[in-house]
Amino acid sequence: MKSSLSLSMFIKLFLLLALLDICVSKSVFDFFYFVQQWPGSYCDTKRSCCYPITGKPASNFSIHGLWPNYNNGSWPSDCNPKHPFNQSQISDLVSRAQTSWPSLGCPSSNNIKFWKHEWSKHGTCSESVGLDQHAYFQHTLDLKDQIDLLQILQDAGIKPDGSFYNVSSIEEAIEKGSGYFPGIRCNFDASRNSQLLEIYLCVDKSATRFIDCPILPHSNCPSQVEFPTFGADSGILQLATPSSPNYI
Ligand SMILES: *[C@@H]1O[C@H](CO)[C@@H](O)[C@H](O)[C@H]1NC(C)=O
Ligand SMILES: *[C@@H]1O[C@H](CO)[C@@H](O)[C@H](O)[C@H]1NC(C)=O
Ligand SMILES: *[C@@H]1O[C@H](CO)[C@@H](O)[C@H](O)[C@H]1NC(C)=O
Ligand SMILES: *[C@@H]1O[C@H](CO)[C@@H](O)[C@H](O)[C@H]1NC(C)=O
Repeated sequence: MKSSLSLSMFIKLFLLLALLDICVSKSVFDFFYFVQQWPGSYCDTKRSCCYPITGKPASNFSIHGLWPNYNNGSWPSDCNPKHPFNQSQISDLVSRAQTSWPSLGCPSSNNIKFWKHEWSKHGTCSESVGLDQHAYFQHTLDLKDQIDLLQILQDAGIKPDGSFYNVSSIEEAIEKGSGYFPGIRCNFDASRNSQLLEIYLCVDKSATRFIDCPILPHSNCPSQVEFPTFGADSGILQLATPSSPNYI
């Protein structure tokens, strides 16, 4: 009697531990993609873009996001609806984020909606490696300042001047300048030219160290792509500057 009770307890405990193990290993990802975008390419499409109400972003790469990913190419998302974005937790980071992580979506916004989306979809999945909301945003902003992609490309003669460049030259320049081989994603301008939209680099689970990518994102670029300017008013649907705000 006594021994069968402890046996059933042992089995229950074993099953509980097995279940726990499945839950935990499912929620831990392998690495992050740190994704930056070129605003000129985001904006000169048929769909166009909107500047945030804080003003026109710099002619520089800006952050799209920091995305947990598995080595097999899939990724977790929307991991914790119980922890929605809370702006007051990143109040000390807002001015940096406005510069480095601007929203270009329409309608014009104060960027919060974009950050909120990135946190809910991707950021909550990094809670499994111990990052809270403040750490997630701080690490992402710090990563941006570690590698100056625009400078690296310009040093290799690859400039946002509207001309076409070999994707292999772009990849080589970034590998040489940063030490890491990037993933590249493209979109189309209004005349259907393929252009450089996003650059992916990989980061370890601490969200502080760049690593060689375990797997590169599927590239949708042809061998040559345009690197468009991010000039005055180019393809802007709703121009919002501090002097002429457009909140629509
Ligand atoms: C990829 O790996 C994760 C974690 O091991 C797993 O949960 C997921 O089902 C895998 N996806 C595919 C498509 O194999
Ligand atoms: C947001 O964070 C602040 C500061 O940590 C906290 O006081 C507040 O209760 C939080 N708000 C919500 C809705 O969780
Ligand atoms: C572009 O961003 C990098 C990384 O944050 C920064 O070091 C650099 O000064 C910026 N360049 C310009 C032209 O804004
Ligand atoms: C670009 O690629 C083409 C075709 O592979 C090659 O002939 C050309 O030399 C490359 N240009 C540069 C600047 O690497």
